[in-house]
Amino acid sequence: MINQFSEFGGESLASIVEKSLMPSEQLAGVYTPSFKNNPFQLGVASGDPLPNSVVLWTRLAPSPLAENGLGGMPDLNVVVEWEIAKDPNFHYVVQRGSAGALPELNHAVHVEVDGLEPDCFYYYRFQTGSAVSPIGRTKTLPAANSSVSDLSFAMASCQAWYDGYYTAYQHMAADNLDFVMFFGNYIYEYPIDTNHLVRQQFLSEAHRAKVIQLNQYRLRYALFKTDPDLQAAHAAFPWIFIWDDEELDNQAADANVLNHVFPDEILQQRTDAYQAYYENLPLRSTFIPETADTRIYRKFNYGNLAEFNILDTRQYRNDGTVPSTSVFGGEAEKRRNPELTMLGNHQEKWLMDNLTRSQAVWNVLAQTVMMTEINWDTGLDGIYSIDHWDGYVANRNRIFDKFKDEAVNLPIVLTGDIHRHVAAELKEDFQDPDSATVGTEFVTTSISSGGDGADKNFAAVWQENKHVPFYNAQRGYIRCQVTHERWQTDHLVVPYVSVPGAPIRTCASFTVENGKPGLQFRDTGTGSLSPKRL
Ligand SMILES: [Fe+2]
Repeated sequence: MINQFSEFGGESLASIVEKSLMPSEQLAGVYTPSFKNNPFQLGVASGDPLPNSVVLWTRLAPSPLAENGLGGMPDLNVVVEWEIAKDPNFHYVVQRGSAGALPELNHAVHVEVDGLEPDCFYYYRFQTGSAVSPIGRTKTLPAANSSVSDLSFAMASCQAWYDGYYTAYQHMAADNLDFVMFFGNYIYEYPIDTNHLVRQQFLSEAHRAKVIQLNQYRLRYALFKTDPDLQAAHAAFPWIFIWDDEELDNQAADANVLNHVFPDEILQQRTDAYQAYYENLPLRSTFIPETADTRIYRKFNYGNLAEFNILDTRQYRNDGTVPSTSVFGGEAEKRRNPELTMLGNHQEKWLMDNLTRSQAVWNVLAQTVMMTEINWDTGLDGIYSIDHWDGYVANRNRIFDKFKDEAVNLPIVLTGDIHRHVAAELKEDFQDPDSATVGTEFVTTSISSGGDGADKNFAAVWQENKHVPFYNAQRGYIRCQVTHERWQTDHLVVPYVSVPGAPIRTCASFTVENGKPGLQFRDTGTGSLSPKRL
């Protein structure tokens, strides 16, 4: 095993993280500074909720866009007090404590609060010196296997700060949700063209470089996290994260990762990217391992109502088809190679075991690349994206075989990545529209990536695939409302992100009824809805 993570004076990152989670009184040399500027300009967040526990997050940054990526913080351990209460006025504080914000972790604070009550709202805040953070609200999950009548959550993905405003988050923050699930591309590592910004904001030269080093990743996260609408959505709900490629590098993580044959400099970039990912998101410390295999796939149960399998579709996949820069290829024998795996053997077994054991009404696969087959060629030859599950047909078929197992209730696949809203039926045989529907896939569009968009870009191509009744290429998010009887997905869109203040509307809604596999149409605006099917 390669020990991929940085060492600080002989200390591993894992031991630094462990130290940062200790109460500050157990740390030597902690310091309470006075700040000229507000150190909480990146807001607060919570995440990875469990029935009795949640992660609270903040990062001290009195100068968030300082070019060195250090947020204007001194090279000192800083004391941060935290408290969590039952009410927004903090009359009923249930726990409080202090943590150390360490320079090795960019002065990020992660508090993993245990001993909370299931299915409860809580409010939290931080203080350092005389500076007090904004108040965040969070919510624990219902107790495992408890009887739960309903769930409401949002799906978000792809937030290129430089492509437009996060207006969708402004609306999401006012929604009534139990949690937000984020499907990847929280940042992009590309150079930013600071001379042609959609947003009216001056950015220094430092943002024009491609992001490859730790302090560059830190600066990029800070830039995206300065957005007030993103901060509002973080402060309103706990978030659950999956990563995609851009948190590291475009279409990175393939067989080279699996086989640990990355060149040293790429391995170092991956190390830095993972560290900055942890530092900037409310993740548990288990995300930081001692060795090269960073496990992010995990499971959440929402009482007896839904089981969420959070999948990693990047880290364990192998390629073997074409170079990762060429994402299209219609050579059937290659994409059907039974040796190819999207999930890797361990994760696949873990998923299959979960599906076998699950008692949940709805079994969810939350992941980042399209599972539905999409033929991009309107002629006779097929063209398929081998970056998606279409490049891993045998692995997909094994999952579909499991979905067909009577013991697996109501499979739902949730996806991000492609900057499009899509609703699709997963078919036993995609070439045969009359074959059995084995599950349903909902894809959420981007928050801002791709700019304003249009509702019908490429719609004709997508809807040539008979199992895809809905497609939209505007920006927005998905809201899912789930009961025992029905899964409802609302595709929400804003008409523009190039200027702030866009209204939001429900472009289309679909339901999946318990006992009736496939999409039931509820409502639509002017999104591209195939007239053939619904
Ligand atoms: Fe994206």
